[in-house]
Amino acid sequence: MVAIKLTDDVFWIGANVHTEDLFEGIWPIPNGVALNSYVIKGDKIAIIELVREWGGAALTLLKNLESISIKLTDIDYIILNHLEPDHTGFTYLLNSLSPDAEIVSTQKGVNLVKAFYQIENNLKPVKTGDVIDLGDNKKLEFTEIPNVHWPETMVTYETNSGILFSGDAFGAFGVHQGCIFEDETSDESKPYWEEETLRYYANIISTFSGNVLNAIEKLSGLKINMIAPSHGLIWRKSPEVIVKKYQRYSNYNKDYAEPAICVVWGSMYGNTEVMLNSVLRGIGKVGVPIKVHRVPNEDPSFILSNAYRCAGLIIGAPTYEYSMFPPMKYFMELLRKKRITHKKVFYFGSYGWSGGAKKDFDNLAENMHWDILEPLTFNGYPTLEELEKGEKLAMELAQQVKQIPSKTKDENY
Ligand SMILES: Cc1cc2nc3c(=O)[nH]c(=O)nc-3n(C[C@H](O)[C@H](O)[C@H](O)COP(=O)(O)O)c2cc1C
Ligand SMILES: [Fe+2]
Ligand SMILES: [Fe+2]
Repeated sequence: MVAIKLTDDVFWIGANVHTEDLFEGIWPIPNGVALNSYVIKGDKIAIIELVREWGGAALTLLKNLESISIKLTDIDYIILNHLEPDHTGFTYLLNSLSPDAEIVSTQKGVNLVKAFYQIENNLKPVKTGDVIDLGDNKKLEFTEIPNVHWPETMVTYETNSGILFSGDAFGAFGVHQGCIFEDETSDESKPYWEEETLRYYANIISTFSGNVLNAIEKLSGLKINMIAPSHGLIWRKSPEVIVKKYQRYSNYNKDYAEPAICVVWGSMYGNTEVMLNSVLRGIGKVGVPIKVHRVPNEDPSFILSNAYRCAGLIIGAPTYEYSMFPPMKYFMELLRKKRITHKKVFYFGSYGWSGGAKKDFDNLAENMHWDILEPLTFNGYPTLEELEKGEKLAMELAQQVKQIPSKTKDENY
């Protein structure tokens, strides 16, 4: 891949990374991830976002620059919207190759440049409203959007082209599939991007949903012609679509999400699984879309997507050594960490003697703004009465979820 034109003077110079590594050391990325980096040519030259040395990404960035005849010593500014190393891992090396380039970030960002890369010179802190004039009618204006995703985060707006370089905001997992722009994306690729955007949001961004809404509000005065995030597609024809999508996702943390149920279950010896089947039958009778996941067999990354998207959440897990089946406990801890709030919830699970899973469930459900049905715990193999009760409770939950209006609209591109 070589550099790709956004405008006559703005180019994508990023890399698509295919790797067995987990993103942030936690999240599988079977479809890889795009590390988007950009260069703007005025009288002066600025690079916005870098890459991490990952699957050849650093070499790709250098080759992309070469393809548009930019030498490393031509670079005047290295703009770092956000210091997470997926975008900045190459900073130390680039600094040694382009020692005169100024590294631009917020004050908190500059502190992280020092901490992560031991670079002390040519650091330029900026704040909201500051502008760097690149000449040739190109100006970079900065706006701090703290905690989308880290505290130091800012965005960069190029005033001539109206391109918003938005950092992690409006990003997605997944490599580009031949097209970097949303308007080149075929209908067949759209479900891929829908899933990878949601999973990226649920895994990486959802904790900061309130900050995302604040950022969208703060940026609403800008005339945005194109959104160029640091991961995923570049939105040049309908940037409002990705903003609406992110707004919808952010609001899932304030209100019930979509009328569907995510069932997450785990079982050692099958007793909890017997109840699972009754529960599923109950949902089936009401007719609500359903996603079923088993822990630990499936990675929580994928389960979080559906837990996030569905207004209904059913947790089935037995007791293990006086507490909840550990993979489910971990999953529920992730639900808390990622602030997957405002759900209609039902818990069931089997125990052998004194139980313990329900106590964990109660603790982990605290302050989650969950609307919880009466939990159903049972000793060993469920009785017929218990199975009937499980089916009934699932039907009740499904009826409630069915009433919730869908929020997906105006997102065609
Ligand atoms: C490793 C292990 C630890 C267990 N610890 C407890 C426990 O601390 N308290 C309890 O009431 N039951 C305990 N049990 C019993 C299970 O909760 C019980 O067998 C339950 O029916 C298992 O459900 P499942 O068949 O869905 O795995 C334990 C079982 C296993 C295999
Ligand atoms: Fe990040
Ligand atoms: Fe990132």
